[in-house]
Amino acid sequence: MEKPLKIFFQKFLQKDTVFLSKSVLNIGFTPSNILHRDKQVQEIAHILVPALKMEKPSNLFVYGKSGTGKTVTVQKVLTDLVEVAKEQSVPLRFLYVNCKLGRADTEYRLIAYFCRELGLEVPGTGLPTDEVYNMFYKVVEEKKQMLILVLDEIDQLVFKMGDDVLYTLTRVNSFLKNSTISIIGISNHVRLLDEIDSRIKSSLGEENIVFSPYDANQIKDILLDRAKLAFKPSAIENGVIEKCAAIAGREHGDARRAIDLLRISGELADREGVERLTLKHLDAAQEKLEKDRVLDLVSSQPKQHQCVLYSLILLDEKIRDYEKDGLNTGQVYDNYVSLCRNINLRPLTQRRISDILSEFDNLGLIKSFVRSKGRFGRSREIRLAFDNSLVIKTQAILKDSLEA
Ligand SMILES: Nc1ncnc2c1ncn2[C@@H]1O[C@H](COP(=O)(O)OP(=O)(O)OP(=O)(O)O)[C@@H](O)[C@H]1O
Ligand SMILES: [Mg+2]
Repeated sequence: MEKPLKIFFQKFLQKDTVFLSKSVLNIGFTPSNILHRDKQVQEIAHILVPALKMEKPSNLFVYGKSGTGKTVTVQKVLTDLVEVAKEQSVPLRFLYVNCKLGRADTEYRLIAYFCRELGLEVPGTGLPTDEVYNMFYKVVEEKKQMLILVLDEIDQLVFKMGDDVLYTLTRVNSFLKNSTISIIGISNHVRLLDEIDSRIKSSLGEENIVFSPYDANQIKDILLDRAKLAFKPSAIENGVIEKCAAIAGREHGDARRAIDLLRISGELADREGVERLTLKHLDAAQEKLEKDRVLDLVSSQPKQHQCVLYSLILLDEKIRDYEKDGLNTGQVYDNYVSLCRNINLRPLTQRRISDILSEFDNLGLIKSFVRSKGRFGRSREIRLAFDNSLVIKTQAILKDSLEA
């Protein structure tokens, strides 16, 4: 190895760090305390507890915005429940799948995954789907048991394969004699239930639990609890946790984002080789995170959405410096239609474009506000919500993607 590189690696190992255990701030870490979710923990526990007496729990639909603790809370209650079941020799288990992952890309893969988790090998492809279901019923029925299937990010499942699989799964008990299956669906798409078949809606949503966004104080408690494990004592300047919580509280009350922000701040402090994480590191981390978030979002939008955003950016650029009024939907729509013509894309209706603009508003890409025009009534106006420094980069991403 080249000498300078070796010295760099060795120095890295000797270098001081503000962290005690950085992994505590990673996605996979499960905290032992779940704060400010007592009500939801109780509700979920009440819904599931009949399982301990071998009575089938109701199906449950859990929803709330990103980072509101849905996954961590459901997993914690289930883990505790299964522990008690074990002590009491109650044959209860749960299978968890995050539907965003590849193992839930198709109905076949999903059911095959459940079979495998239950100890039955199923070939990766090749069998008719009905056959895989039969294998699943068989392995579930081998012994009397209560099974709880947790479909996390269930909106992704519906997006990828429609709602047929949910229809089948919510009716699966009619094929079983010994065992029963309950389903917990977790979604951050609040209106998912309205979009699926009403028969599935009523059986999946037998019980509903909402996770509302955390406020800044709640996030502060979550961060303090986590920081105690993650950072060396007094490695964090006073005020950093509070500010970090205030930022996340303002932006949809997302605990994951708050934890990420703290981790990146610590990494920036380490990179500078200083002993303390300060407000300056937090500000830099926020800028970095916001930049990554916007650019990721923009690149992952479908083409029509990108086209709407591009039209909006081109118009916004013109009015940015000298007009305080925003744009109205009609202006954006006209520009969008002419852009579609240039790139041979079939324009959607103005109604659809309004919906897409509302989605952008929810994602924080644009801000829309209602302005009173005196006797002319009121009008909805739109402005780009992200920083000027990101506009050029965004524009380049969109241009590349739309011209491809
Ligand atoms: N009440 C809480 N107490 C302690 N940690 C929490 C709490 N709520 C959330 N967290 C932490 O915040 C992060 C996000 O939580 P979680 O993954 O459960 O959110 P989610 O609602 O499932 O989000 P998404 O919809 O994006 O999947 C995790 O690291 C989790 O450990
Ligand atoms: Mg989750």
